[in-house]
Amino acid sequence: MGAQGQHLTVNGTEITLSVDGDTPLLSVLRDRMDLKGSRIGCTEGYCGACTVLVEGKPVQSCNTPVWSVAGKAVTTIEAADRHPVLGEVQKVFVALQAAQCGYCTNGIMMTLAGLLSQSPRPDRAHILAHLDERHLCRCGVHARVLKAIDQLLAHSEGGLA
Ligand code: FES
Ligand code: FES
Repeated sequence: MGAQGQHLTVNGTEITLSVDGDTPLLSVLRDRMDLKGSRIGCTEGYCGACTVLVEGKPVQSCNTPVWSVAGKAVTTIEAADRHPVLGEVQKVFVALQAAQCGYCTNGIMMTLAGLLSQSPRPDRAHILAHLDERHLCRCGVHARVLKAIDQLLAHSEGGLA
């Protein structure tokens, strides 16, 4: 597939970029839109560092071709000040210092924001299974992330959104 106009909506802004449709969304976000909050990790869909929301669902942007998100809403960590649930997740992570090097943190927060937005009564076991399957943290901040999740779930009973 050659370079052609790809129409994207990222953090509420519509943009058309001349780029090969098979280019990973992560590269487009970082290299063409200067949105560096989505991290480059394994680039093979295993570590979750590159997670963004597509139509509200957590997606690993390193193995998502840009053509596949045409006409869909993409949300990145840079939208934390405009996305109520993501903003709340970020606030709790900062308050509990739920990060060490921080490389995995933005991806984990995106997944949590997606899962907490999707379900009015988020299930803790489902969230933990999802994180376990899709995110790696080499620094071992799991205990603090769990504390953050529990605080968010306690808040969610009153409605996060
Ligand atoms: S960089 Fe995308 S999953 Fe690791
Ligand atoms: S905080 Fe360093 S990889 Fe998770």
